[in-house]
Amino acid sequence: MPEATFHFPRGFLWGTATASHQVEGNNTNNQWWKWEQEGHTSGRSGLACDWWGGRWREDFDRAAETGQNAHRLSVEWSRIQPSPDQWDESALEKYRAMLRGLRERNMTAMVTLHHFTDPLWLYERGGWEAAETPALFEKFVRKTVDALKEYCSLWCTINEPNVYALTGYATGDFPPGVKDIRRAVQVQAAMLRGHAAAYHAIHELQPEARVGYALHYRPMTAKTSWSPLDRLVRAMRYEGINMAFPSAISSGVLRSPVGKVAIPEARGKQDFVGLNYYSADTVSFNPANRKELFTRASFPKDADLSASGFIASIPEGLFDSLKWIVRTYPNTPILITENGIEDLDDHIRPRYLAQHIHQVWRGVNFNWPIKGYFHWSLVDNFEWERGWTQRFGLWSLDVETQKRIKRPSADLYAAICKENGLSSAMVRKYCPEVFDKLFPG
Ligand code: FCB
Repeated sequence: MPEATFHFPRGFLWGTATASHQVEGNNTNNQWWKWEQEGHTSGRSGLACDWWGGRWREDFDRAAETGQNAHRLSVEWSRIQPSPDQWDESALEKYRAMLRGLRERNMTAMVTLHHFTDPLWLYERGGWEAAETPALFEKFVRKTVDALKEYCSLWCTINEPNVYALTGYATGDFPPGVKDIRRAVQVQAAMLRGHAAAYHAIHELQPEARVGYALHYRPMTAKTSWSPLDRLVRAMRYEGINMAFPSAISSGVLRSPVGKVAIPEARGKQDFVGLNYYSADTVSFNPANRKELFTRASFPKDADLSASGFIASIPEGLFDSLKWIVRTYPNTPILITENGIEDLDDHIRPRYLAQHIHQVWRGVNFNWPIKGYFHWSLVDNFEWERGWTQRFGLWSLDVETQKRIKRPSADLYAAICKENGLSSAMVRKYCPEVFDKLFPG
C-alpha cells in the first residue's frame, strides 16, 4: 500500500502546554490553594508534578528527547510578588533557569503571565473586581518580562479569560464561586484592560515581542436546527462564551448579554491568536438552567467521548475554529495554545491526536498562518476543580511516588514532531481504527 505524509511548514512549533499551579506543587499563596483547602476540588494540588522542586528538568528532557521544539509554561504571580510590596528575586531566578533549560534543549519558550491563579493578597482585595487590578497586573508583567526577556519573546498575557470569568463568576465552579453574570462581565472588562496594559508594557520592554492571549473557543450548533428557540439560545451562548474578548479586540467594545463596555485601548492588541480548542457543543433551550441563561450544552449522540464525558472528540471543530479565526483576523499568525483529551488508559488519545493534527494540516494547506501546536499536556497534572480525576498527560503521573510512565501517545507525538508531519504509517501503527477516515481510498 502506498504511504502518504501530511507535511507541515519548516519551523513549525511542536510542543506541550502546562500551567504553574497545575505542575509546580506547593503553590500555597494563591486563591486556588485556598479553594482546595476549603474542599471545593476533587483532591488537592499538593506537590503536583514537583516542578518547583526541580522535576521540570526531567520533564523538559522528556519533551526534548521526543522531538518537541517548543514549550508553553506559565509563571506564578503569587511567587514573584508574594505580597504587594515585595518581589521575590529568587523566584524570578528559578523561572530564568527553567527558560534557560528550554534554550539549552533547543526549545522555543512561550510564557503565559496569568493562568487562572491570583496571589492571595490580590484575591482578598477583590481580585479582578477591584478597580486597581489591571494596573497591578501591568506592574507584575513589567517586572516579570524584564527579568525573563532574555529567554522569551513569545508572550501570552492571560489564559482563557472567558473561562476564568464565567466559571468563577457565572457558574461558580472556580473561586470565588460567584453566580452573577454582571460580575462575570465586569471581570472580563478588567481582564481586557489588564491585557491591553500588558500588551503595551511588553512591547515597550521588548520591541520584538509577540504578544497575544489564549482564547478558549467552542464551536456550537443548535440542537434542533429548525427550532427558533434553540437557535436563539445557541446564538446567546456563543456570544457569551466565545465572543467577549475577540469582539473587544476587534472593536474596542466588550459586548455582553447585560450591556456594553467601551475599552478602546484593547482594540487591535494582539500579534497572534492563541487558540485553546478541546471540543464543540450542541446547544438547546433549557428553561431550568437559569445560571447558564436557559441554555444547555451537550455532545452529539454517539460522540467519541472521554471517560468522564468531559470532552467529545470532534476534530472538525478544530478546523472550524481555525476558519473562524482566519475570517475574523485575516493575516494574523495563529498558535494552537492547547488541545488534548483526558484519557487515563490512552485508548482515545492516539486517534484524538492524529485526527486533530490532521485538521491543523488541512488549515495549513489553505495557507492559513498556523505557526505551532501545543498539546495539553506533557505529564498528568492538577485539573482545577476536577483535581486528579482527569489525566491529560502524554506521560502518566503517580503523584505519591512522582513516577512518570510514558503513554503510547507520547511515541505517536514524538514521531509527528520528528517527522514534522503525520504519516499513514503512524496512523496504522497507533490508531488503525481511523486509518480509512484519514487516508480514504
Ligand atoms: C483548559 C485550561 C488548562 C487545562 C485544560 C484541560 O481550559 O486552560 O489549564 O485545565 O483546560
